[in-house]
Amino acid sequence: MKKMTEANLKAAFAGESQAHMKYLIFANKAKEEGKPNIARLFEAIALAEQVHATNHLKALGECGSTTENLQTAISGETFEVEEMYPAYDAVAKLQEEKTAQKSINYALSAEKVHAGLYTKAKQAAEAGMDIEIGKISICTVCGWTLEGDAPERCPLCNAAKEYFKTF
Ligand SMILES: [Fe+2]
Ligand SMILES: [Fe+2]
Repeated sequence: MKKMTEANLKAAFAGESQAHMKYLIFANKAKEEGKPNIARLFEAIALAEQVHATNHLKALGECGSTTENLQTAISGETFEVEEMYPAYDAVAKLQEEKTAQKSINYALSAEKVHAGLYTKAKQAAEAGMDIEIGKISICTVCGWTLEGDAPERCPLCNAAKEYFKTF
């Protein structure tokens, strides 16, 4: 692919990805405000943005085999754990940005778990198999991630069990 088109598709992928996520967050807000049709509109258009992002990523040739994709995921999570979030945390601390620090530390803690789970998955995929894994529980307040049932309280943010979503 020609360099300029590649750069443009990467920018478009980033933009569509952010729009997708923002619209889902905005949909939740509309639900909280008791506006289910506006929520539905946000969710519907979020899906269209996901389709656009998917097409851009595929056109870039960046959706590989599952083994390759797991390596991409491991590299991303590891970068976040080892470089990105520790550096962001240091800046937020220096600037006394308490809310940002909390948000950064919630993410940093869970990314470590994500890297571990993806590493286990990659070992299985490389052997031509699926991962042996039970329930995966996610705290919808802080993003804490664990294998198994939701705990009584989130170990990271102390949210109650009901705030967990299990996959
Ligand atoms: Fe992650
Ligand atoms: Fe939590």
